[in-house]
Amino acid sequence: MENFQYRNPTKLIFGDGQVSQIKEELKTLNAKKVMLVFGGGSIKRNGVYDDVTRELNEAGIEYVECDGVEPNPRIETAERGIKIAREAGVDALLALGGGSVIDCTKLIAAGIPYEGEAWDLVIGKATPETVIPFGTVLTLAATGSEMNSGSVITNWKTQEKYGWGSPLTFPTFSVLDPKYTVSVPKDQTIYGIVDMMSHCLEQYFHTAHAPVQERMTEGVMQAVVEAAPKLVNDLENVELRGTILFAGTMALNGVLQMGARGDWASHNIEHAVSAVHDIPHAGGLAILFPNWMRHVLDESNAHRFVTLGENVFNVDTEGKSEIEAAHATIDAISAFWTSLGAPNRLADYDIKEDTVDSIVKSAMTRGDFGNFKSLGNEDVREIVTAAL
Ligand code: NZQ
Ligand code: ZN
Repeated sequence: MENFQYRNPTKLIFGDGQVSQIKEELKTLNAKKVMLVFGGGSIKRNGVYDDVTRELNEAGIEYVECDGVEPNPRIETAERGIKIAREAGVDALLALGGGSVIDCTKLIAAGIPYEGEAWDLVIGKATPETVIPFGTVLTLAATGSEMNSGSVITNWKTQEKYGWGSPLTFPTFSVLDPKYTVSVPKDQTIYGIVDMMSHCLEQYFHTAHAPVQERMTEGVMQAVVEAAPKLVNDLENVELRGTILFAGTMALNGVLQMGARGDWASHNIEHAVSAVHDIPHAGGLAILFPNWMRHVLDESNAHRFVTLGENVFNVDTEGKSEIEAAHATIDAISAFWTSLGAPNRLADYDIKEDTVDSIVKSAMTRGDFGNFKSLGNEDVREIVTAAL
């Protein structure tokens, strides 16, 4: 196992009706005026906006709004939020939505006190020294952003999409009420499931000796593999929504990566694809991850795929060589995702050979990447081409 330190300051508030807790949480922050950050309007249709504003009104906390955060949030939207928040003089932020809204809120929180361009924080040209505190009310199970410090922001002008973060960009608190996720449509529900499973897989493919983390990661994946097919056929089942919601948080709140550095190459490549084509993050992952697996699989690492297949995907490895069993595992993962309704070819998003150069260029801006296996220009080209 590698040396590690673990600290996660986010207070998780899980369960039915727990939005009532935001009053106390905001009082603890001494917040008199907050900015609500949200997306294209789902929170106005599913009751989240009404519930949150009722709580704020009861507590006498003023609020302003920054709406219209798009999926794959853009730098200009965070800049707009920073401007609104500065002009209003808010002392806390409240993100109401999925990963995109929370990620954008993180950049707004760090950007308000920062005097330079917000993009500097994304590309690491500057590091936040202080942030405005923020909480979240999560409405979509997927990214884990509600309990981690990461944020992913897109710059369309330069075709760049990067993850960034700081020890200061954890939410102070996050409310997870499963019933707020019942309105998530089937496609977004499937994407969320693929995303959290991909987070598990990114962390599972490491080169350390870390059996505790591996068994915990398999445990989260087992729960998802069991619940996901039931949920996509029973979208209003609050119990199943709760299982998937908690799984999404556990998949990327740092617990599974203690003592082992995950790979994260599939995420890097997906971010490059969605910096060039505005596609859903996990739609891209469902296509790219199996292709990454086929590209990196060799005799020296096949056993890891085999264990995953046996322990999580019920793959029958009897009579197969390690390489054959590893391929059977990769096929099982891909088949599981497509059985839920996820895409498995970039052509499903009308992505063709003509943009492969731009995708590879965007992916390689920061040089070679991948901890399980380091990838260069040609590796990325082969993976993307195989996924077309
Ligand atoms: O904009 P609204 O109207 O809210 O609609 C959203 C959006 O259209 C809708 N939605 C959310 N909750 C809903 C709902 N619709 C009905 N009922 C609800 N309860 O769902 C759509 C997608 O939302 P989005 O927030 O974009 O999805 P997700 O949570 O999957 O976030 C994706 C973004 O997170 C980044 C991705 O790259 C992408 O930009 N990631 C962030 C990570 C992190 N911070 O740790 C890690 C991830 O790997 C990922 O890269
Ligand atoms: Zn992801």
